[in-house]
Amino acid sequence: MKKLLVATGGGDCPGLNAVIRGIVKSAHQAGGWEVWGSMEAFNGLMSEPVELLELSPEKTAGIHVKGGTIIKTTNRGNPLSYPVTQPDGSVQHVDRTKELVDRIHDLGFDALVNIGGDGSQRISQALFEKGGPVIGVPKTIDNDLAATDYTFGFSTAVQVATDCFDKLVTTAESHHRVMIMEVMGRDAGWIALHTAIAGGAEVCLIPEIPYSIDKIVERINQRYDRGRGFMNIVIAEGAKPLGGKVLGRAATVQGDEHLKLGGICNALRYALEEKGCEAQIRTTILGHIQRGGTPIAFDRLLATAMGVKAFELVQSEAYGQMVSFQNNKIDSVPIAEAVVENKQVSPDHYLVQVARSIGISFGD
Ligand code: F6P
Repeated sequence: MKKLLVATGGGDCPGLNAVIRGIVKSAHQAGGWEVWGSMEAFNGLMSEPVELLELSPEKTAGIHVKGGTIIKTTNRGNPLSYPVTQPDGSVQHVDRTKELVDRIHDLGFDALVNIGGDGSQRISQALFEKGGPVIGVPKTIDNDLAATDYTFGFSTAVQVATDCFDKLVTTAESHHRVMIMEVMGRDAGWIALHTAIAGGAEVCLIPEIPYSIDKIVERINQRYDRGRGFMNIVIAEGAKPLGGKVLGRAATVQGDEHLKLGGICNALRYALEEKGCEAQIRTTILGHIQRGGTPIAFDRLLATAMGVKAFELVQSEAYGQMVSFQNNKIDSVPIAEAVVENKQVSPDHYLVQVARSIGISFGD
């Protein structure tokens, strides 16, 4: 029997289980393969004793409809910069990727499929460069991975955000209020842009287009003057005012390197009030509900197809490749290409044009 190891890393995302099931089912059909999961990304592989879960067809049956990941995940413990507490209490960050590759070989694994976002794929590339037989599968609700048009989980996040947006429209209308809804996306405005168009927002604020408070006040006043006494704004957590900064705090947990974003909707509310905006304003931060729960059909489909493709790449020993979805086709690209830069919304992206054409303001 050949042995395949699967890991899910970084923030969870609807569709992770569907990828796992896609891999397990195709490996079972092919025959001659055992599939195992490393618990909590690579922590399972690095711990003593190792924490692995055998992923049998029975164990993975029906999991494609379930949110989260049955092999758990973490955004702490990056093996490229692993925090190790020294005898004097200080913390040193060490590169454990060579040790990880040795462990993969020592435990008899023939290949590793690493399902994760930009950070996880940088780890994939490092493992590959050290001789690890690695295949990457892109994952993130933010849709900001280069070399793939869509990542699974993104469409579910947009659906959740759109459903919430629709609810906020009816309450905004009843109370003549301005509702500001904050969505995730880190440095990319994809979730905000898609939700704003799908929901019919008046204003959409994204990290790629800094906004002017004056322009937004003007827009609110125009709308109220026209007798449309309510307004719905979508703001991405990474959006910032002209000349301003992203609102974030450093992570407080050892090993988590990401800036924690959140709360820009309140900063916007206070800024609008200070500028004399008379309408009542309320804010909603959607947060992690965009990441939880069952994936919508499109994400189950995309995730399953990516799982199947990942196993196909394993079989052809195309290590160093990441599964991608480009021009409506499941394909693969070198992982190295996928991690060069993140994919942000270009101000001349066709959806920005669509939004402007139907009167959505970006506050610019
Ligand atoms: O990258 C996915 C994401 O959900 C971002 O949209 C968000 O900024 C971040 O993760 C939240 O991370 P955490 O779960 O660590 O709070």
